Amino acid sequence: MTDNFSSQRFSIAPMLDWTDRHCRYFHRKLTGDTLLYTEMVTTGAIIHGKGDYLAYSEEEHPVALQLGGSDPAALAQCARLAEARGYDQINLNVGCPSDRVQNGRFGACLMADANLVADCIKAMRDVVSIPVTVKTRIGIDEQDSYAFLRDFTGTVAERGGCDTFIIHARKAWLSGLSPKENREIPPLDYPRVYQLKRDFPALTMAINGGVKTLEEAKTHLMHLDGVMMGREAYQNPSVLAQVDRELFGRTTPAVDLVAAVRSMYSYIEAELTQGTYLGHVTRHMLGLFQGIPGARQWRRYLSENAHKPGADVRVLEAALALVADRIPQEA
Ligand SMILES: Cc1cc2nc3c(=O)[nH]c(=O)nc-3n(C[C@H](O)[C@H](O)[C@H](O)COP(=O)(O)O)c2cc1C
Repeated sequence: MTDNFSSQRFSIAPMLDWTDRHCRYFHRKLTGDTLLYTEMVTTGAIIHGKGDYLAYSEEEHPVALQLGGSDPAALAQCARLAEARGYDQINLNVGCPSDRVQNGRFGACLMADANLVADCIKAMRDVVSIPVTVKTRIGIDEQDSYAFLRDFTGTVAERGGCDTFIIHARKAWLSGLSPKENREIPPLDYPRVYQLKRDFPALTMAINGGVKTLEEAKTHLMHLDGVMMGREAYQNPSVLAQVDRELFGRTTPAVDLVAAVRSMYSYIEAELTQGTYLGHVTRHMLGLFQGIPGARQWRRYLSENAHKPGADVRVLEAALALVADRIPQEA
């Protein structure tokens, strides 16, 4: 579906420890058009780490690599590697408030230095031809006026050449709140993001934060170019099964959830031979049947059995038997 490769219209948020390559592979079975994001990967991990931090499957496209870092040269090096590996986009994390990230002087604290963010974006844009985007908040600490957000956006767009912003519609407190609290306590301010789009109509702008349904997404799309969904997509992935039809105008049949599970089998079997545990893949599938009778049994059966030695796709078949005939059929 190359026509949507650069589309921001609907995406699944980068989530550390959650949107790993197994998760993304599974999400892709539910929606072909949604833009997927990796977890944040630091430039240090890519450049000095022992593992292959850029590994992904071809089936995941369109997929964006989210980078964490603030050294323009290191970011440029990583962007180049990512483009060579076939990533469709690069995204710079300017929204994560964790202490670890602040110690590395990247993430949300970068909002205080728009010129540095612009330098980072420019350094990457100079060496790759794929889009380079920014994910940020509406403010940090006491720097939370609309003028601050507008100036930040203006600087990163004009000096850095960034034309796409994903805005988590709440500010972050850099001290005193945990990352989890920073996703819950600062209030959401959607109108502020709508205003930003009105002030920068030429920029592509997607909104993030608290979106739980495709109806809500449609409302945002009346004001903005895109919607990024995080926790709801992960915890209740069946919402993704309607995205291609509801948000991308596809006329393909609705995705059958049981068929989606079974379509994972060949991937899982290949992964098992590489030493992956079944549970590494199925942990992302636990919420699939949320709201359907049998969902709890599905979740419990997988949780209890998928990590056992030798566990394979038969565990999934047995778990499906607890839920499959209870799923309402779509007309
Ligand atoms: C477990 C978890 C890990 C996250 N890791 C990242 C990350 O690596 N990079 C990032 O930009 N945001 C990260 N976030 C924030 C999400 O991308 C998103 O901005 C936030 O959850 C708000 O969207 P939501 O209300 O739709 O979940 C994370 C969120 C969660 C729940």
